[in-house]
Amino acid sequence: MSQAALRYAQERRTQTLDELKDLIRIPSVSTLPEHRADMLAAAQWLLAHCKIIGLEHVQLLKTQGHPCVYADWLHAPGKPTVLVYGHYDVQPVDPLNEWKSPPFEPTLQGENLIARGSSDDKGQVFAHLKAVQALLQTDGKLPVNVKFLIEGEEEIGSLHLRPTLEAHKQLLRSDVCVISDGNILSPAQPLIVYGLRGLVYSEIEVQGPSADLHSGRYGGAVHNPMQALCEILAALHDGNGTVTIPGFYDRVRKLPADELQAMNQLPFSDQDFLQEMGAPALWGERQFSVLERLGARPTLEIHGIRGGFTGEGAKTVIPAKALAKVSMRLVANQSGAEIAKLYANHVQSIAPRTVKVQVRILQHADPALTERDHPATQAAARAYEASFGAKPCFMLEGGSIPVVEMLQKRFKLPVVLMGFGLPDDRLHSPNEKYHLPTFYKGIDCSIHFLQEMGKIGA
Ligand code: BES
Ligand code: MN
Ligand code: MN
Repeated sequence: MSQAALRYAQERRTQTLDELKDLIRIPSVSTLPEHRADMLAAAQWLLAHCKIIGLEHVQLLKTQGHPCVYADWLHAPGKPTVLVYGHYDVQPVDPLNEWKSPPFEPTLQGENLIARGSSDDKGQVFAHLKAVQALLQTDGKLPVNVKFLIEGEEEIGSLHLRPTLEAHKQLLRSDVCVISDGNILSPAQPLIVYGLRGLVYSEIEVQGPSADLHSGRYGGAVHNPMQALCEILAALHDGNGTVTIPGFYDRVRKLPADELQAMNQLPFSDQDFLQEMGAPALWGERQFSVLERLGARPTLEIHGIRGGFTGEGAKTVIPAKALAKVSMRLVANQSGAEIAKLYANHVQSIAPRTVKVQVRILQHADPALTERDHPATQAAARAYEASFGAKPCFMLEGGSIPVVEMLQKRFKLPVVLMGFGLPDDRLHSPNEKYHLPTFYKGIDCSIHFLQEMGKIGA
C-alpha cells in the first residue's frame, strides 16, 4: 500500500480545495444555451489539469453537443484498465433567490463547500484525479492503467454520448468502469449502489384556442388548455400513487427475497428521510416500503407547468396553450423506448377532444443493475473499508446515470458505482454542498481502489 500517496494527498488538501473551487467557479450548466462558452471553459480547465497531474493523450472528444474530456495513463502492462467516468456539467441554479451564497462562488460553511456542482459531480470526479496525481507524484506510476472520460451532458441525459462512445471504441476500451457520482449513507457508512433507475423525459403541450381569450367573454364555452392539461396530469396516478399507464409495470423486476431482506436491514429511517425532505408526510404506493418505492419501483413526476398568467395581481385570461414537463423513472427490465411509447399513447388516449395534445419525448435512459460479486466491486468494497473504516452497504438508487447502461450493454463493461457524496448534499437544489471530509476520504478511497485493482491482474 502506498502510504506515500495517501500522505501526499493529505498534505496537499489546501491546494486541492483551491483547485476544486476554480473548477466549480466555471458555471457549466449544460442545458442552458447561454452557458455554451462556460461548458467549453470547464472542459478546457479539466484538459489542462489532466496534463498538469501527468495524464497523457489528453484530448477533447467532440460530440454533437458538449465535448467529453479524455485522458489516460497506460504504462501498467498486464494490469487491468480502469475507466473513470464523471461529468463536468451541472444543473441550472434556479431558484436563484433561495441560495444563501452565489451558486458559483464556492463558499465554506463548517465542513461543507457550498456551490452548484460541488458534489454533483465536479468534487467527486476530482477525487479520482487527485488520487492519480498522488500516486504518480509519489510512486511515479499507477498500479493499473487508467482512462478518464468526463462528459458534459450527463445532466441532459447524455444526449450525444452513445455515438461518441461508438466513435472512440478503441480509445475507451477498458476492463471496468468506476463512477463516483452518487452518495454513501453517512460519513461513516459507505455504500455501493448496484442499481440505477432509468429516465424518460417528456413535454406535453396542450393547444386550445388560437390566441389567449377574455375569460368572461369566452369562459364556459371553450375547454381551458390549462385545465385540460391538469385533467390529463391528474389522471396519470391513482389514489395510491400508482401510475395508471396500461402496461407500465409489466416488465418491472420483482425484488428477489434476498435483496428485499438486505434492503430491510439497511440503516435507513423513514422518519429521518422525511425530515431530510422537509415535507409534511410521506407519500406513495402503500404496499411498498420507502426504499422499495425509491429503488425498485418506477415513478412518474411532474416537473413544471407553464402557461397562462402567473405574474403579480390578476389577469382574466384563458390561455391558448399550456405545457407540462413530465418524466418517468424506470427500474430494471423496463425499457425506455417501450415506456415512452406506452406513455405517449396513453396520454393521447385520455386527451379530451376539445384540445390538441402533443407529447414530445426529450430523452430516455435505460435502467441498470451492476454485478455485486464482480472482482472490481469487491475491490471497491475493500477500498471503502480501508478509507472509511466500514464495509459498504449495497443499495438500489433512485437516480439515473445514462452511461451505465450504455457501457454495460454495448461494451460489456462492468460498472462499479462508488459514490463520495452524502444523502443531504442537496443535488439539483439551492445550496448544493459537498462534505469536505468525505471528499478527502474519497481521494484516499480512490487511491486504495486503484491499488486493489492492481492486485487483481488483467
Ligand atoms: N449524480 C446524479 C444521479 C444520482 C443522484 C446518482 C443521486 C446517485 C444518487 C446525476 O448527475 C443525475 O442527476 N442524473 C440525472 C440523469 C438524467 C438527466 C438522465 C437524474 O437522475 O435526474
Ligand atoms: Mn451526477
Ligand atoms: Mn445530477
